[in-house]
Amino acid sequence: MKFSNRAMNVKPSATVGVSNRAKAMIRDGIDVVNLGIGEPDFTTPKVISQAAISAIQHGKTSFYTPASGLPELKQAIADRIAADYGVTYAPEQISVANGAKMALYVIMQALVDDGDEVLMPKPSWVSYSQQVSLAGGRPVLVDTNAEFKITLRSLDAAYSDRTKLLVVNSPQNPTGTVYSKSELQAIGQWAVDHHILLIADDIYGKLVYNQTEFYSLIQCGQEIADATILVNGVSKAYSMTGWRIGYVAAVPEIIGKINAILSHSTGNPATVSQYAAIAAFQSDQTDVEKMRRAFEQRLNTIYPLLQQVPGFKLDQKPAGAFYLFPNVAEAIQIVGVQTSSQLVELLLNEAHVAVVDGGAFGMPGYLRLSYAAGLEDLKLAVSRINTFMTRYLKKKVSGGISIETN
Ligand SMILES: Cc1ncc(COP(=O)(O)O)c(C=O)c1O
Repeated sequence: MKFSNRAMNVKPSATVGVSNRAKAMIRDGIDVVNLGIGEPDFTTPKVISQAAISAIQHGKTSFYTPASGLPELKQAIADRIAADYGVTYAPEQISVANGAKMALYVIMQALVDDGDEVLMPKPSWVSYSQQVSLAGGRPVLVDTNAEFKITLRSLDAAYSDRTKLLVVNSPQNPTGTVYSKSELQAIGQWAVDHHILLIADDIYGKLVYNQTEFYSLIQCGQEIADATILVNGVSKAYSMTGWRIGYVAAVPEIIGKINAILSHSTGNPATVSQYAAIAAFQSDQTDVEKMRRAFEQRLNTIYPLLQQVPGFKLDQKPAGAFYLFPNVAEAIQIVGVQTSSQLVELLLNEAHVAVVDGGAFGMPGYLRLSYAAGLEDLKLAVSRINTFMTRYLKKKVSGGISIETN
């Protein structure tokens, strides 16, 4: 079979892969705690599901909508952006897509040509680089500082005359890093000065903890807002990963091209999901706050526990999203493997805890653990990892002979 170069080069999503393996082991009766997944464990709030049921019962969901979404949904999104960010967008500046993932995919299709370079932080979410490659572009990982933040100096080092776009993701997957307003302002101005467009992937924007304040690039003045393509959706904040609704908000020229591509690719996202999303954006946001508090409690519980695990180094307490990203260079040595991906395998097979290799995010030597799981499961997972690491540490100290009695 002769596949296209695009298909030959694309790598399947590592996060989806780990999660599927963990789920398969669970189906086989193996008691795996799955910290590999990037989705909230809560069911979608009732008020949202009820709106979907009601839309079905009233016969509203049987037909196509405009490819870029229902006008009512675009209005609800514009209203939500105005309420959350204090920034005004017309409904014509919004496109609805099948999740933020598809929103990002069409942005790359609309803007990236062969050989164009797209800057993104190292580490960053698995799909950015693959989507850029699928569009014929070249992903360029920008070095980050000790807080996992890109700096002007690292941007200068990564810039070339082929640079087209810069992806900013705050709170950031996989590190939970949240940028301050002044940091965003500086990055935004750098992009404007270099005539580069920005993507603000704000999908975790409502999930910030311990008095952290969230800001978006679109709040950094008109010039930066005009250069910014905002991406957001309902998956993470409203626990609606299965409904597949995301959106793009940008200047009308960009939205026009995105709509044309959507009209020939996915067509509209499922009509029933669009009605559910209207309810999510129009709801009083109390369910979002309840879930945010639960994540905060989990972070505050699990972070100090994980810090005590031998070989796991966590210098930065995450401020948002729902991931921990420990440096496991020492753990790799203790266990006697070569790479963090081998450590992931052992953790899954021996400790029955699923996590994702940092290499999937461009940063081998780290692991990503999701705390979008119940508190008891999280404690169990960390205790299993601790037992696993302590066993290897004892083996190492005793010269390879296990002194475990059980
Ligand atoms: C940083 C980031 N952006 C976008 C997405 C895609 O979200 P959606 O479920 O809306 O496609 C994810 C999902 O994991 C993510 O982590």
